[in-house]
Amino acid sequence: EFGRREISLAENEMPALMALRDKYRDEQPLAGAKIMGCIHMTIQTAVLMETLVDLGAELRWSSCNIFSTQDHAAAAMAANGIPVFAWKGETDEEYEWCIEQTICKDGSPWDANMILDDGSDLTSMVHAKFPDMLETIHGVSEETTTGVHRLRAMADAGELLYPVIAVNDAETKWDFDNIHGTGQSTIDGILRATSVLLAGKNFVVAGYGHCGKGLAMRVRGMGANVIITEIDPIPALKAIMDGFRVMKMDEAASVGDLFCTATGMKDVIVRRHFDSMKDGAIVCNTGHYDCEISISDLEDMATEIFTIRDNNEAFSMPDGRRIHLLARGRLVNLASAEGHPSEVMDMSFANQFLALCRLAKEGSGYD
Ligand code: ADE
Repeated sequence: EFGRREISLAENEMPALMALRDKYRDEQPLAGAKIMGCIHMTIQTAVLMETLVDLGAELRWSSCNIFSTQDHAAAAMAANGIPVFAWKGETDEEYEWCIEQTICKDGSPWDANMILDDGSDLTSMVHAKFPDMLETIHGVSEETTTGVHRLRAMADAGELLYPVIAVNDAETKWDFDNIHGTGQSTIDGILRATSVLLAGKNFVVAGYGHCGKGLAMRVRGMGANVIITEIDPIPALKAIMDGFRVMKMDEAASVGDLFCTATGMKDVIVRRHFDSMKDGAIVCNTGHYDCEISISDLEDMATEIFTIRDNNEAFSMPDGRRIHLLARGRLVNLASAEGHPSEVMDMSFANQFLALCRLAKEGSGYD
């Protein structure tokens, strides 16, 4: 019931998706579509799922992150008869199991014909473990920058065996979701885990892509002194001209009070950075994967690790300093808050819906 109540609130805040529902109800463009989904199982995703079902699709679903499921959203989907395999706080093994249940029905690969992916874990599993399914799958609509990067790498290597619609690359996705969604929800996640005052703090944002840019802009609005680290000279120059200080992480490490990675890259904050951080420094990530902060380095250095409150662990260093890691380095906006607000997911998911309709229309012949 809680999930259903929140879905009804979100429906009011997602006018594009609701208008598409009305517009296409008679036409049923997704009749015959069997869609496997792997995306954060949130209330906003629930509105998308019910739109797909309303317009003819059959679904099987899992989340694309072990911490991002909103259990009441998943429960509302299950109560509506949609097979959903997701809960907040999965182990890595359970995560794999959930994706496998999305792919298999009653123990055998489902005769699915489309995929909605976020980060491309589902696509990777289908290619690696269920290659026979590639015959019937028309294509995938991919939600996020990291997923699109992975799929482009697979395509370059000649390994991608069905077409992809890069939903992330739509202007009505990245220009809003990546910037404004990430900007607001990341701050929400940090504040729920710490309750720290941002005004007057040195806030280091690693990466000045769309997500980093949105976060930097919003954190500045809260009165923080924002420092950008960026290895690509053009975005680095953009950050300077947008009025931010730009420095290497090697320099920023000792200056920052808070650090948030938004690069999509590996090992952005490592041992030598932890070595020079201030006592009480707060470290988190808002990129898709938990690879940006070296948690193994932090664990290795710590004399004691303890949980202070939800999503806030303290790592005591041998010299007495404490470093706070939020949400175990997973997406802080979804693990410690509720992800992007409905209004911005409305735009992203309208793109998802249209991409899936296109894949359904083109069928197996799409290039
Ligand atoms: N990605 C970021 N925020 C999200 C949300 N609220 N729902 C689904 N995916 C998201």
